[in-house]
Amino acid sequence: MSKSEIPQRENWGSKLGVILAVSGSAVGLGNFLRFPVQAASHGGGAFMIPYFLAFLLLGIPIAWVEWTIGRYGGRHGHGSAPGVYHVICGGKRWAKYLGVLALLGPLGLLFYYLYVEGWTLAYAFFSLSGEYSKVADPQHMKAFLSGFQGVETNQFFNGPWVAYLAFALVFVVNFYFIYRGVTKGIEKLNKVALPIMVICGAVLLVRVMTLGIPHPDHPDQTYFNGLGFMWNPDFSTLTDASVWLAAAGQIFFTLSVGMGSIMVYASYLKAQDDVALSSLTANSTNEFFEVILGGSIVIPASFMFFGAVGAQEVAQGGSFNLGFVTMPLIFNQMSGGALIGFVWFTLLFLAGITSSVSLIQPAITFLEDELRWTRQQSVLILGSVCFIVTNFIIFTLARGSMDEMDFWAGTMAPVVNALIEVILFAWVFGMTKGFREMDLGADLKIPRFFGFVIRYVTPTALLAILVAWFVQQGVAVLSLKGVSPENVFTIWATRLILVSLLAVLILLVIVARRRGRFVKPEELR
Ligand code: ALA
Repeated sequence: MSKSEIPQRENWGSKLGVILAVSGSAVGLGNFLRFPVQAASHGGGAFMIPYFLAFLLLGIPIAWVEWTIGRYGGRHGHGSAPGVYHVICGGKRWAKYLGVLALLGPLGLLFYYLYVEGWTLAYAFFSLSGEYSKVADPQHMKAFLSGFQGVETNQFFNGPWVAYLAFALVFVVNFYFIYRGVTKGIEKLNKVALPIMVICGAVLLVRVMTLGIPHPDHPDQTYFNGLGFMWNPDFSTLTDASVWLAAAGQIFFTLSVGMGSIMVYASYLKAQDDVALSSLTANSTNEFFEVILGGSIVIPASFMFFGAVGAQEVAQGGSFNLGFVTMPLIFNQMSGGALIGFVWFTLLFLAGITSSVSLIQPAITFLEDELRWTRQQSVLILGSVCFIVTNFIIFTLARGSMDEMDFWAGTMAPVVNALIEVILFAWVFGMTKGFREMDLGADLKIPRFFGFVIRYVTPTALLAILVAWFVQQGVAVLSLKGVSPENVFTIWATRLILVSLLAVLILLVIVARRRGRFVKPEELR
């Protein structure tokens, strides 16, 4: 196969476009819901020590690796992990099979992410229509959410049909952008969505900061005391290994590293496009949304309305409780709350959709690049699989299917996949060649100190995370310890779906190999 036979692949329209697309992939529900909960319940300001260390030693280097190998793969006609690993490993027979995990991870996330994205859209409408405006206490607001999700039938909802409709809508919109392609779909979406997200974030921040003292009988419940509640460091938490694991987990989730998306996006760069500064810019954009906006809106607001004890309970109630129970209760108590609620859920919806398209694209790129399916075929087949599995999640939500999917696809797969990427890059591709690639067209020279980090520190830290997880929870998780008997069947069914998909992906890699898609990289020159 000669270079002229490499199928024509799309390219990003502009540098800003790809940076916004990667930022959009990173900035998601994790920034506004997951981060505040993680920080507030793991030592406040002290959490930022392991968090920033994880950012520096895991997030930044892994993102650089993904951008670099993605662009390299794209130059050789491969954007998805099996193809990219194949070329960076010089055509070694086993390399392509390692890439299936970077396809399965985003798909697993996608299967429930679209449903949650639908919730944000529905709640944006509810804010304006006043659907939840009469609900005044946490117990009833929780019932409103459970009824909406279809977890229970109650006075608010009679089955998950409204949520289902919202899911169907976001499903169609997501696949529409994917069908339009990288430049006309994903890039355009992010160019519009990111600026709106900044405006929404700013509006919310200003509104929360200018609330004054919402409860005159509690004059200490001010915005600044709320910030203090969130950020006052409790250094004693740093001796707890789970705090370090939570910080690393948050970095993975929020930056979308190890999820396969960044690599795939980078494969649509031109050969001489910068990766060093672009990657850092996208990561910094994410941190602005996460630490500055995510860290100064929801928890301080919860403190102002519910006090320290209430805010602590809110933080412990988890991300969904914070976003869909606590925040609506707060909006109901503030003037202009309907509009502010709309802004909040619009922000979540845009953060969600810019991330979910990046979870769909890896599989689409795989089908197009390795199986040479048309865009239409890829969208149709992947869309059908996604639709069927999401239906399974929707109707078994009360039985724990979403949490199970999230654990394997959102927590486990990115760490394992990042470990694979970093080892292949540092030890098989090699750091000398690696730096040459990173420096190609670079607007920033990556400090050579990161060579040491990528070779030794990052893989060791990733291995340590996996070993610590296995020692602390591995056997319990695998054997379903503590899982209520009525959930056992659903959890095994969720695992079966993931294993079956893994088998199908391996099979498709074999089909692609048989069709001669994985030629030795030398033959392309
Ligand atoms: N990075 C995405 C988020 O934070 C997945 O939600």
